[in-house]
Amino acid sequence: MARPTSVRIVEMGPRDGLQNEPGVVPLAAKVALIEALADAGLTAIESGSFVSPKWVPQMADTAEVLATIQRREGVRYPVLTPNLKGLELALAAGVTEVAVFAAASEAFSQKNINCSIAESLERFAPVLDLARAHGVAVRGYVSCVLGCPYQGEVPVAKVVEVAEALIAMGCYEVSLGDTIGVGTPDKAKAMARAVADRIGVARTALHFHDTYGQALANVLACLDLGIATVDASVAGLGGCPYAKGASGNLATEDLVYMLNGLNIETGVDLDLLAAAGRAITAALGRAPTSRVAQALAAKAA
Ligand code: HMG
Ligand code: MG
Repeated sequence: MARPTSVRIVEMGPRDGLQNEPGVVPLAAKVALIEALADAGLTAIESGSFVSPKWVPQMADTAEVLATIQRREGVRYPVLTPNLKGLELALAAGVTEVAVFAAASEAFSQKNINCSIAESLERFAPVLDLARAHGVAVRGYVSCVLGCPYQGEVPVAKVVEVAEALIAMGCYEVSLGDTIGVGTPDKAKAMARAVADRIGVARTALHFHDTYGQALANVLACLDLGIATVDASVAGLGGCPYAKGASGNLATEDLVYMLNGLNIETGVDLDLLAAAGRAITAALGRAPTSRVAQALAAKAA
C-alpha cells in the first residue's frame, strides 16, 4: 500500500510526556502547553489521565487542567480512563473522548493496571458501554507490542488478539505502543501489518517510544502500510512510570519535520510546535531531546 498523503498526529506531551515527571508541574504550565499545542495546529491533544492519584500523582490535577484550558472548536482533548471510576470523573469534566489501555504482556498489565489482560478487557467493557451512552469516543491502546520490560518477548499473535478485542468492544482505533522503545523497523512493520490486516489500516495507530532511537525509522516503515495516525510527544517528553528506563515518545518536532520532507500533510506549524516544546522544557528546567528542536534552536541563536 502507498504511504498516506496526510497524517493525523495525536499529541502525547501533556499526558505520556508529563505523567512520569518527578517534580510538580504547575497547572499553569500544563494549560499553557495544551493551548500552545492547539495554536501549533494539533487537533488531538491527550490532556491527562483519570487514574489513581496514588499510582500516578502527576496526573492528579487533570480535572483542573480540563476546566482551565480554552477548548477550541475542532480540537479533541482525550484523557486516559482505566475503569468506570475514571470515566465517571472524565464525564464530569466534560470530555468528548477517552482512552482505555491494555497490554500484550501479562506481566506489564499487572504492573501498570494491577490486573491480568483478560480482567482489563472485562473492566473496559462497561467503560465502553457508558462512554457510548454519552456519545464519547473511545480509543484503545495496546502496550508492549514489541517487547516488555518484565517478560521480554511479546508474541505478535497476542498483540493482534488484544487489538481485535478492543475494536470488538467499540474502540474506534487502536494505538500500538512500543512502550520501552525496543522495536526496529522490520519487526515494527510486521507487527503493525498483522494488526492492520485484522482491524483495518484506518483503525491502526502507531505509538513508538524513542528509547533506542528507532521511533522515526519505525514510523517510516509503517507508513508504507498506509497507516496514517501517529502518536508523538512535543520535545520528546515522557516515559511510563511502570516501564523503567522508557524514554519519551517520538518527538513531535522530529515527526513533523520528516513528514514535511515527505510532502505528507499534518496541519502542524513546526515553528509554533518547537516554541511550545521550548516553553514546557524551560518550565521543567531542561532542553528538548528532539533533534529537530535542537537544530531549530541552534539556527535561531
Ligand atoms: P487498584 O489499586 O487495583 O484499584 O488500581 P482499586 O479499584 O482497588 O482502587 C484503589 C484506589 O484507587 C481506591 O482509592 C480507588 O478509589 C482509587 P482508595 O480507596 O485507596 O483511596 N481509584 C481511582 N482514583 C481515581 N481515578 C480512578 C481510580 N480508580 C481507582 N480511575 C488502577 C487499579 C487501574 C486504578 C491503577 O492501577 C491505576 O491507576 N493505574 C494507572 C497506571 C497508569 O496511568 N499508567 C500510565 C499510563 S499507560 C501508558 O503510559 C502506556 C501508553 O502510553 C501506551 C504505551 O506507551 O504503550 C498508553
Ligand atoms: Mg506511551
